[in-house]
Amino acid sequence: MARVTYVQPDGSERTCTNFEGMAVMHLAVGNLVDGIDALCGGVRQCGTCHVYVDENWADRVGPPGAEEGEMLEALADYIEVRPTSRLSCQIHITEELDGLRVHVPKDQPGI
Ligand code: FES
Repeated sequence: MARVTYVQPDGSERTCTNFEGMAVMHLAVGNLVDGIDALCGGVRQCGTCHVYVDENWADRVGPPGAEEGEMLEALADYIEVRPTSRLSCQIHITEELDGLRVHVPKDQPGI
């Protein structure tokens, strides 16, 4: 089992638990976490699953892959993209990420 905590822009938090292998996005959607709509279903086409990985977890989560990075670059015209930005559909929960904290952005891209 692994836990992920979603921190909202107002500072409120929600911790969800699931088995390894699930994407951070799927865990959020399955638990109705606010601010993660994931409109494309996880194929890197919408950006509505964008999160900021907590600074303390950024090294463990790692950088985006090439295609994810391109999507984040494109999103930077519409939303605030930071060095710790990731598409949560591309972060898969592992034992190593148990306790992960991600911050839900104030604004997600409009579709
Ligand atoms: S769910 Fe659409 S980019 Fe992640």
